[in-house]
Amino acid sequence: MIRYLIRGSRILYIYKILPKWHKIINILTCYRENIVLGKNWLIYGVLKISNKGIIKIGDNFRANSGQEYNPIGGDDTIRLVCGVNASLVIGNNVSLSNSTIVCHNEITIEDNVGIGGNCKIWDTNFHSLDAKIRFTAFDKNGNVSTKKILIKSNAFIGSSVIILKGVTIGENSIVGAGSVVTKSIPDNQIWAGNPAKYIKNITPTAYGFQE
Ligand SMILES: CC(C)(COP(=O)(O)OP(=O)(O)OC[C@H]1O[C@@H](n2cnc3c(N)ncnc32)[C@H](O)[C@@H]1OP(=O)(O)O)[C@@H](O)C(=O)NCCC(=O)NCCS
Repeated sequence: MIRYLIRGSRILYIYKILPKWHKIINILTCYRENIVLGKNWLIYGVLKISNKGIIKIGDNFRANSGQEYNPIGGDDTIRLVCGVNASLVIGNNVSLSNSTIVCHNEITIEDNVGIGGNCKIWDTNFHSLDAKIRFTAFDKNGNVSTKKILIKSNAFIGSSVIILKGVTIGENSIVGAGSVVTKSIPDNQIWAGNPAKYIKNITPTAYGFQE
């Protein structure tokens, strides 16, 4: 009985009381970082955002940020980092869980995309490949390679996936858990592994695109 009371009060605290406080923090963060956030969003936990470019998030954004809000093992929070002159555009009905997106060029996530826990999406190498420049004052801008990332509508990114610069994930396509995506994935395919490779096609059913 006491165990159920403790569990119940924990759930009440995490899902009913804390979210009210987190909502205020998230609204202030979006205001501070100049984020365009669409209607009807539901964010559990607080977003960590650093924006020196443009970040736009569409309607019905769903997010779990913090270990309490993701039972599948993503212990991190959501971090959105957008550099100078960079643009991160997230469409409508996108869900994101304890993942990090670092945008130094351009990242576009289209509508209805699901991104699982603990993913990393980076459109930059962060550092120069030249050891003489790396970690010096020249280790930025033109000396660091960046390429655009596009994640097309209805794509599903499994847990703990890393998506590297220059990659397009096709419409309806799925990336398996723990994959490192280095090459673009066509529409309607499942890819997985490190580096991610073609696994199989997704064929349409009466209900839509399912295996
Ligand atoms: C990619 C995935 C969706 C495919 O599911 P499935 O169609 O049932 O796949 P199967 O288990 O039949 O595996 C098919 C093949 O892909 C391989 N494979 C599947 N997932 C893989 C992965 N993550 N990494 C590497 N290979 C993988 C399997 O070994 C198998 O290879 P084989 O044909 O040589 O035997 C699934 O494996 C997966 O990663 N699920 C986790 C999704 C996730 O992270 N959800 C949480 C988000 S919040």
